[in-house]
Amino acid sequence: MGISKPFPAISYILFLALYFSFHAITPTSSTSLQVDFINCLHENTNVDFPVDKTFFTPERNASLFNEVLESTAQNLRFLTKSMPKPGFIFKPLHESHVQASIICSKKLQIHLRVRSGGHDYEGLSYVSQIEKPFVVMDLSKLRQINVDIEDNSAWSQAGATLGELYYRIAEKSKVHGFPAGLCSTVGVGGTLTGGAYGTLMRKYGLGADNVLDAKIVDANGKLLDRIAMGEDMFWAIRGGGGGSFGVVLAWKVKLVPVPATVTVFTVTKTLAQDVGNKILSKWQVVADKLVEDLFIRVVFNVAGTNRNKTVTTSYNSLFLGDKGTLMNVMKESFPELGLTRKDCVEMSWIESVMSISGFPRGTPKNVLLQVKSSFPKISFKTKSDFVKNPIPESGIQGIFKRFLREDMPMMIWTPYGGMMERIPESQIPFPHRKGVIFKVQYGIAWQESDKNPSRHFKWIRELYSYMTPYVSSNPRESYVNYRDLDLGKNNKNAEKSFMRAKVWGAKYFKGNFYRLVKIKSKVDPENLFRHEQSIPTFPVRS
Ligand SMILES: Cc1cc2nc3c(=O)[nH]c(=O)nc-3n(C[C@H](O)[C@H](O)[C@H](O)COP(=O)(O)OP(=O)(O)OC[C@H]3O[C@@H](n4cnc5c(N)ncnc54)[C@H](O)[C@@H]3O)c2cc1C
Ligand SMILES: *[C@@H]1O[C@H](CO)[C@@H](O)[C@H](O)[C@H]1NC(C)=O
Ligand SMILES: *[C@@H]1O[C@H](CO)[C@@H](O)[C@H](O)[C@H]1NC(C)=O
Repeated sequence: MGISKPFPAISYILFLALYFSFHAITPTSSTSLQVDFINCLHENTNVDFPVDKTFFTPERNASLFNEVLESTAQNLRFLTKSMPKPGFIFKPLHESHVQASIICSKKLQIHLRVRSGGHDYEGLSYVSQIEKPFVVMDLSKLRQINVDIEDNSAWSQAGATLGELYYRIAEKSKVHGFPAGLCSTVGVGGTLTGGAYGTLMRKYGLGADNVLDAKIVDANGKLLDRIAMGEDMFWAIRGGGGGSFGVVLAWKVKLVPVPATVTVFTVTKTLAQDVGNKILSKWQVVADKLVEDLFIRVVFNVAGTNRNKTVTTSYNSLFLGDKGTLMNVMKESFPELGLTRKDCVEMSWIESVMSISGFPRGTPKNVLLQVKSSFPKISFKTKSDFVKNPIPESGIQGIFKRFLREDMPMMIWTPYGGMMERIPESQIPFPHRKGVIFKVQYGIAWQESDKNPSRHFKWIRELYSYMTPYVSSNPRESYVNYRDLDLGKNNKNAEKSFMRAKVWGAKYFKGNFYRLVKIKSKVDPENLFRHEQSIPTFPVRS
């Protein structure tokens, strides 16, 4: 896939023209940053970089720059005027462009952020709140996918979305799938660096558990595959979090079998329909013990207005089999839900992907190829927990009380068990395995026009604090793909960044954190790939 062309005269002329036009107008730090960068590219590599197709600056075309910046950015809270903006964005067209960019960002010491699908909860792929200036490398033009049914595998470039990957698999086979995220617009590049869970996790584990090979550009600009990078680095990049070890260009993933017919249901209850939380309590007892073909998550929202406001619990499910079998399983294991045949819809696996991603039934499948979400973009803050003992009724009441005080609170309980508990904690950096009944994601959203967003942060932090007795402890675990910059902040000893990193490191990775630090210190000793919560190198004693 790597193409490197000798550098033709035409792009040099274009470069000179740009150079002089920028300097004829008022030179800003951002333009000189770009000029230095382009200059370096031409001096140090023999790669052709068509400037107008690959570089986006606010000076050249502000509206285009904003369009590119906002394109895949999911969290509107990082697009406000007061948020720092990159000096420029570049979109590599070839793998060699990525290599050249790494070499130059290192040489010029320009702080670089890498973006695949732009779904980072803390905006780390397109905003730096710690270093200025910074630039963004957006991989959205590197989105080729090759599915090889015979080999039971697929290569996907980092800039593709999960929706595209699922679509390309289904295009070739109705009985193959891939066990990653539920939201179709999540980037393949970023999500597999942190784990990637979805409806198939109880049967097949995480996306990262099913990675066979990868292509990565390291801190020296070298393009490495699994054999060239070695097993330590290959271990680290499958779950150690994005933006720490290099730029993943492509992942080779293992396909998994799915039946031609699967069954989907969503059953929603209000508070009045689940008095005493009989259903929810039973779910907590069975969710991780159900047959592995059955995944039932619970999505919590609020509905109604002041007078009839209620918390709704939606039991959202994928079953790898037909309706009749599902009805029998439910009658046996979870009759409290009162599932009926009418609630169940049989469909193909790819249709279930669309359904669970939120697209209405009948939406053309190629919507998965558009980078368009079924949800409108909004400002939000999320946090996560892992639950190892059922939460008692009294605990649940306190959650609901807090929910009723907000307009757009959200919570998702994702069941574990099955394959998730059979994979050892240190197999990949993602450690949340045996003993976890379910994962909790808390979310709070608000409109951009909201004049007082700080009250929402306060709300979610208080909810998180309230939950302390009900969730995992020592460490209180968190999911790295639900990036949370609050973690480590309240530690009394956290003045030093390594001390802080030990706090969030233990939450995201448990005992795997030290191995990640060791590998980081070896493969990127100068800490070229860094952000607010990147894996640190060992601190140097002075
Ligand atoms: C609406 C929504 C739904 C979600 N649903 C799920 C879900 O069902 N399951 C699940 O597991 N997660 C889910 N997530 C979380 C998601 O997995 C993470 O946010 C993930 O990091 C997104 O990857 P991305 O490429 O879209 O993100 P980006 O914002 O592009 O990147 C995320 C991080 O990885 C780094 N990075 C990006 N590309 C690369 C690369 N090529 N090489 C190295 N580092 C890179 C970035 O610098 C950043 O630090 C969801 C998130 C959102 C917003
Ligand atoms: C700037 O970009 C917009 C697209 O956002 C485009 O319509 C417009 O023509 C561009 N202007 C110039 C001067 O290139
Ligand atoms: C609340 O009341 C309104 C108006 O009577 C009704 O339309 C809505 O469905 C009710 N919502 C709930 C969750 O009961």
